[in-house]
Amino acid sequence: MNPNQLTPMLKQYHEIKRRYPGTLLFFRLGDFYELFYEDAIIGARELEITLTARHKERGTPVPMCGVPHHAVMSYIAKLIRKGYRVALCDQVEEAKSSTKLVRREVVRIITPGTVLEGPLLEAGENNYLAAVCGTAEAAAVGFLDVSTGEFVVAEFVGERAWEHLLEQMEAFAPREVLYPKALEPIVNAYVRHETPPSEEAADRELPVGSTVFDYAARTPLEDWVFDFAYAHSLLCEHFGVSTLEGFDLQGHDVAVQAAGAALHYVRETQRAQAAHITEISFLRPSEFMILDPTTVRNLELVEALDGSREHTLFAVLDATETAMGARLLRQWILRPCGRLAEITARLDAVEEFVRRTMWRDQVRARLKRVQDLERVLARVNMGTATPRDLAALRNSLAVVPEIKDVLREATASLLEVLRESLDELQDVRALLEAALVENPPATLGDGPTIRSGFHAELDELRALATDGKSYIARLEQRERARTGIPSLKVKFNQVFGYFIEVSKANLHLVPPEYERKQTLVGAERFTTPELKDYEAKILGAEERILELERELFHELRQEVARATRRIQATARALAHLDVLAALAETAVRRNYRRPILTEGDEIYIRAGRHPVVEVQLGRFVPNDLYMNNTTDRLLIITGPNMGGKSVYLRQAALICLMAQMGSFVPAEEARLSLVDRIFTRVGSSDSVARGRSTFMVEMIETAKILNTATPRSLVLLDEVGRGTATFDGLSIAWAVAEYLHNNANHAAKTLFATHYHELTELARVLPGARNYQVLVKESKGGILFLHKVVEGSANKSYGIEVARLAGLPRSVIARAREILENLEANELDPMGRPRLAEHLPGREGWKRQPTLFEAAQRSLLDELRALDVDQLSPEEAKRWLQEAKRKLL
Ligand SMILES: Nc1ncnc2c1ncn2[C@@H]1O[C@H](COP(=O)(O)OP(=O)(O)OP(=O)(O)O)[C@@H](O)[C@H]1O
Ligand SMILES: [Mg+2]
Repeated sequence: MNPNQLTPMLKQYHEIKRRYPGTLLFFRLGDFYELFYEDAIIGARELEITLTARHKERGTPVPMCGVPHHAVMSYIAKLIRKGYRVALCDQVEEAKSSTKLVRREVVRIITPGTVLEGPLLEAGENNYLAAVCGTAEAAAVGFLDVSTGEFVVAEFVGERAWEHLLEQMEAFAPREVLYPKALEPIVNAYVRHETPPSEEAADRELPVGSTVFDYAARTPLEDWVFDFAYAHSLLCEHFGVSTLEGFDLQGHDVAVQAAGAALHYVRETQRAQAAHITEISFLRPSEFMILDPTTVRNLELVEALDGSREHTLFAVLDATETAMGARLLRQWILRPCGRLAEITARLDAVEEFVRRTMWRDQVRARLKRVQDLERVLARVNMGTATPRDLAALRNSLAVVPEIKDVLREATASLLEVLRESLDELQDVRALLEAALVENPPATLGDGPTIRSGFHAELDELRALATDGKSYIARLEQRERARTGIPSLKVKFNQVFGYFIEVSKANLHLVPPEYERKQTLVGAERFTTPELKDYEAKILGAEERILELERELFHELRQEVARATRRIQATARALAHLDVLAALAETAVRRNYRRPILTEGDEIYIRAGRHPVVEVQLGRFVPNDLYMNNTTDRLLIITGPNMGGKSVYLRQAALICLMAQMGSFVPAEEARLSLVDRIFTRVGSSDSVARGRSTFMVEMIETAKILNTATPRSLVLLDEVGRGTATFDGLSIAWAVAEYLHNNANHAAKTLFATHYHELTELARVLPGARNYQVLVKESKGGILFLHKVVEGSANKSYGIEVARLAGLPRSVIARAREILENLEANELDPMGRPRLAEHLPGREGWKRQPTLFEAAQRSLLDELRALDVDQLSPEEAKRWLQEAKRKLL
């Protein structure tokens, strides 16, 4: 395209557009934001608005579509949700004359990870931006929620660095991920599920289980953004410090790089200092209970396996009154606490709220009136807060002294601490009360914002404007009387200002001093020197009022911004109070009990329930659980399909998790040792999209458990080995159970639900293994699920019964029964496995697959045959015998 053919406006457009690649440019033209060219085509499609064209007449039409400026945020929200980035280009000077091109600039870039406006955010969820970087040996990630100012960074070293990093990614669930371009091939391979080109690349491939790169927007940045020296100086400058020691970042260079990149991106896109980001905290995973992505999903903590939000732990526990509280509760669920002292402090606070119903109600009723201070504060600091935002701040702060007062009665030490953190902010409150009208408009300029009595000049101008208007009314009356034209009107429009309008029929009555301004079909418009005078005054006053209100509002915003840290501290304290009171409310409503947490090794739950299933079903059969790290560390749970094994496993994990959040738990009694991690291998999760079979995923997850579990971990294995041939599956299941039991470093407390009844043999040979079963009652009509877990092992799966209940055709059920009877009557080998295949005709030479024990015996015999006894020292002989014995057991 020949640039000389472009209009000046389009030339300006191209200049700006060139500087913002990868964004959709919203270009302000009068009352509209317009998109042009490619952007217009995308915009029209995604927003379902009409695509038109500019300059059709010139033969080079420019595709165009537009949205009204006052509704722009709802359109942008749609695009952001679809993962687009938007550059907002405004007119940065008033359009003075119609000929001169107004100056335009991009005032903000809005991306999924940096949105600030209410309509673009989920109230009860954080909106994190993540910046990731690292090498094969060390990796770091910075999480920054611009909408609240929270900034956390984590660093991991060693072989499993990336795996740990992804675990954190899953817990924080960022909306946008930044990474250096150098990492792009790896990220892309991960996203596109490509097979890595080489062994070496495969080693660095990101581990399975995380979906964060699929759902978050991916934003590669130039490598220099992650440069250490740059990041370091940016962070120091931002926080006004000369060293990062105070933030625990000394010596964590990769973390500094990640954090620096996140901050860089925010300041770059928002065109603001982001002064509400007042600190950065270094995440120490050991201070939390760690939940890997698979576990977060399997336990249905914040999202159910079917993607819904209804039947989740979060939904059951969430009785918070504020958005800040809802966000914190989510954080506590995804990152339960790992420190006994902190958990106990939380439990003390919850207990006090539980005990004192009236008082809890008082606190909660006041919290209900508190709005999202964190997000308002972010907008204040980013220069986007509206008059209504400041009113929300004012109204919320008014509640703080009341809450503080109510909390005077608190005795739990955490509640006392929180009370002390509440700043009444009298100065800020007084200022906002004096400055803002009761109900200011959503947009500045859409009505009065500044209260009268706050600023003398503003009051004067307002008086003038109102006076002026009544003066015009009087003038109209007077002129009507003087000229004798009853239909004479004084009117106003944008182009001609004030004028006197006289209809054609009355023109002969117009006095000579009237100056003609404009002729219409049925009327003439006039002005007089007196009217001109007043016009100047009134219009001047109204313009000046707008200008002055804008100035005063900006000053007000800046004044509030100066109190950022104090407001933040108050907001955080309110969020904590909200969560603690909400946990108490839920505990009372659902009849939970306070757990006792210990540094010991026992887990004892009496009459425990599954918090979500019990709500769903209404009636629930409670069950006990006892585990320790010696005699009861591997529980093998057998029982019929639909018996309740999976529910039992999950409820154990959820009770431990809730306790470490500081919540009461659904049980009559719970004595729990601290858990460092919960692992789950539950059900069959397919990952076809990732090019991995069910069984492969199952094994990858199992491998991870075996490599990472510690004696402090809680492991749930639900039918491991199910995804393959019976013997392979059973062998793997057996070996996995044995490993978790025997390997001192990985001897986690393990709950293993299985349909391999052979596994119940483990209890005979392993000192820490025990059998439990889920009871059913057999009756003539079928079976009755009791959902009761007791010691012992089940010997039947009742699979056919369940199939019958599921409505399989009667003939199929009857035939299955017949086959089962045959199998059980005479077709089983000594190990209880079918000999079916042996009797099939025409399969000469087929050999029965050996049982586990036979296989062990045979290989031992082979070894013995091959052994040259003369060559053995007595020591070696002894070791061989020991080894042989171990293999046989
Ligand atoms: N303790 C309980 N009280 C009441 N109902 C329960 C209880 N436990 C489980 N149930 C009900 O039984 C259903 C099946 O439970 P679950 O999925 O745990 O069975 P399972 O033993 O794992 O079966 P499968 O072997 O087929 O996987 C649950 O969906 C729930 O409705
Ligand atoms: Mg199950």
